Amino acid sequence: MDIPVAMTAPAAGHVADAPGATIGAPAPLLVAYATQTGIAELHARDTCRALQAAGVPTRLLDFDSLSLPMLHAADRALFLVSTSYDGDPPDMAEAFNRDAMGRSAQLAHLRYGLLMLGDSYYDDFCGFGRRLQRWLQASGARPLFEPVAMDDEDPAALQRWRVGIGATVLR
Ligand SMILES: Cc1cc2nc3c(=O)[nH]c(=O)nc-3n(C[C@H](O)[C@H](O)[C@H](O)COP(=O)(O)O)c2cc1C
Repeated sequence: MDIPVAMTAPAAGHVADAPGATIGAPAPLLVAYATQTGIAELHARDTCRALQAAGVPTRLLDFDSLSLPMLHAADRALFLVSTSYDGDPPDMAEAFNRDAMGRSAQLAHLRYGLLMLGDSYYDDFCGFGRRLQRWLQASGARPLFEPVAMDDEDPAALQRWRVGIGATVLR
């Protein structure tokens, strides 16, 4: 992922329970992905690489490892999630979808970026991503930039994701 060189001022989110976090040091920015066939993970890894190259420490994790306490402790997070089956979450996000997203949480402190991967061939386009977006909104979290719905591998959507990160996280 190419982030313009001009967008290199480091700024980091804070994740209190990040491994190796020390008092006073910038904590890694949470980057969480939910994938069924690997594409969201690839984009999450690219995003982390670009952020780290710009001096922003990141913590990459999948939705199987994501917990509500992590989101309570974070002030910023990036989510990259696909939709599988009939508008449902990928297998690795089933537990989070059922347990954490079963009702709204207290996330008014949280600002987030959201890349929703899907395919408009399916009836429920980006169904899980939109469900995550509704839950984040209902929980009081605010978007860093307009959530991005990516139809298949639409390069324009990926560009909106990159620009959104460049204008907010790397500002
Ligand atoms: C069996 C199957 C079911 C899918 N169902 C949906 C769906 O309901 N809605 C949607 O927007 N995309 C759906 N997709 C498309 C995927 O979300 C899309 O290909 C995405 O890029 C996959 O990302 P991933 O590799 O990170 O899982 C489906 C794909 C497969 C293979």
